[in-house]
Amino acid sequence: MNLDSVLGEGDTPLVPLDRLARRWGLGGLWAKCEHLNPTGSYKDRIAAASMKSAVDRGLRGWIATSSGNGGAAMAAYGRRAGLTGVLCVQSGAPAEKLASIRPYDVLMLEVPGMGPAVMDELERIAAATRLLLTITTHRHNPVGMQGADAIGTEILRAQPAVTQVYVPCGGGGLLVATARGLTTARQASHHGTGSGPAVVASQPAGCAPIALAADGRLDRPVVAECTTAISGLQLAEPPDGDAATAAVRKSGGWGTVVTDEETWHAQDLLAREEGLFVEPAAAVPLAAMAADAAAGRIGPDDQVAVVLTGHGLKDLHRYTTAKAPLEVCGTDELGTRIGRHLGNDNAPTTSAGATR
Ligand SMILES: Cc1ncc(COP(=O)(O)O)c(C=O)c1O
Repeated sequence: MNLDSVLGEGDTPLVPLDRLARRWGLGGLWAKCEHLNPTGSYKDRIAAASMKSAVDRGLRGWIATSSGNGGAAMAAYGRRAGLTGVLCVQSGAPAEKLASIRPYDVLMLEVPGMGPAVMDELERIAAATRLLLTITTHRHNPVGMQGADAIGTEILRAQPAVTQVYVPCGGGGLLVATARGLTTARQASHHGTGSGPAVVASQPAGCAPIALAADGRLDRPVVAECTTAISGLQLAEPPDGDAATAAVRKSGGWGTVVTDEETWHAQDLLAREEGLFVEPAAAVPLAAMAADAAAGRIGPDDQVAVVLTGHGLKDLHRYTTAKAPLEVCGTDELGTRIGRHLGNDNAPTTSAGATR
């Protein structure tokens, strides 16, 4: 337990995914379970560091943009610090993400067309009103982002032999912080300054500026439009795009791009095979890793870590009963139905009464 933890954030488990490692022929596979942070995402680490900074500087509160996860984290940690907050949310954010922010009762505004212009305007308002700008990017909130470095240090402390770390990218800030933490841990360890794990920028094909720039397929990490449906990763002009691209290259990593369908498949597979339920953005690195394993880019000599950034309960739209109504089964049909599910050899008797 980290004694500096405010609400229990950080020191998340690194869980082995042995079944999936075998399935994809890897030497080892681990999940960094960032979805187990108090509000369900790694953003809690950034919120804790941001609010500490706001209190230390005597500011009256915070202001941020968010697709939902950062907003929930800032709202919770802001309330804990006794600070007021203002949140501008992206249109189309999942209902579950927005609903989970409401109990904290911060001013929440929907701002269409979220992009650099909105962020610049909030920067101006923050300076004029003594609010801390807590957008989760290095460009706007460098002190807060340092809170996420520990993701990298904790991975290497738990598994020093990790060869690749797959990170989902939207604005690029998470990747920059994770890479920095990996480098710090590597330099501090007895392994000295040898090369650390490669960092793999994992992005949806419908918005992949950082992955494409890291591989030299784009001059700059900017795309004209964003067509992916994966919440949290919809930034055509990522604020930390240049820094993220540089961090990938410096680590000896690369970019891997996956479709939304591959991502949803990986999300389902992780739940079915390993019992971990994460939101689609968090399944992107798993889908990217699977694509790289299928292409022979990684294999039995590799020890891979994926960063699972957000909890599955944050975005339930693919799993609602409206989409997949439950099968209705009367009491007298239960035995037969369950027997069919288990296979006839294991069929239980139809009811307690029938065995007498
Ligand atoms: C669940 C989840 N994963 C990954 C990311 C990407 O982080 P970044 O925007 O720092 O690249 C986000 C960003 O909001 C997110 O919410």
